[in-house]
Amino acid sequence: MDSTLDRARANAAKKALEHVLEAEVIGVGTGSTVEKFIEVLSSRREELRDKLFVASSIDTMVKLKRAGFKVLHTSTIEQIDVYIDGADEVDRELNMIKGGGAALTMEKLLTFFSRKRVFIVDYTKLVKNLCEKHPIPIDVLPEAVLMVYNYLDSRGYNPVIRYSVRGKYGPVVSDVGGVIIDIKPRLFNPAELERELKSIPGVIETGLFIGLADRVIVGYEDRVEELIK
Ligand code: A5P
Repeated sequence: MDSTLDRARANAAKKALEHVLEAEVIGVGTGSTVEKFIEVLSSRREELRDKLFVASSIDTMVKLKRAGFKVLHTSTIEQIDVYIDGADEVDRELNMIKGGGAALTMEKLLTFFSRKRVFIVDYTKLVKNLCEKHPIPIDVLPEAVLMVYNYLDSRGYNPVIRYSVRGKYGPVVSDVGGVIIDIKPRLFNPAELERELKSIPGVIETGLFIGLADRVIVGYEDRVEELIK
């Protein structure tokens, strides 16, 4: 990866550490920026030894366990003190697109049920309008994939079933067993689109995170900027 971006992500990840020091149960998202955050946690392993972690994906669970942390299964969790995650796009109102790594369903679950939600991104993730650079992922029940695809197509949302490029023949299957459909609607109101998508039977979850971020830490090569709700 470009070393400027790498430093920007690392700066955002370092800044996030202060939000977990007082927490007992810490939710951890998925992706390359979160990987940087796990590196920061590892560098403070002794201090964080008694913390309990809950992971938004198999990938993050493996990384946290390998780093020597205690990871609880999501089904045993009643409340998360703080959740730290990355994002694909963030607008100035702190609405986000997530799910570039297909982990959107668990990520939204952990985000919603956390007392404090902190997102860490590099500066390239800031956009004026959502969907500028990334499509919106939707996690769809496999049994409903064609019906949901056809509905999205009829609405002009330009759906594409996400295919695996390596390691699996066929569609990408999410950690909760769904098929990912990416959509690229033209002009849309994020909150209205979210309501519409969530009303379609067969849609497990969407990658639109509306009003769910308390704080976004934007990393640059040499500094961070904090956007607060
Ligand atoms: C995972 O499904 C996503 O929601 C990630 O949080 C998002 O794609 C950000 O990932 P990067 O930090 O790798 O850009």
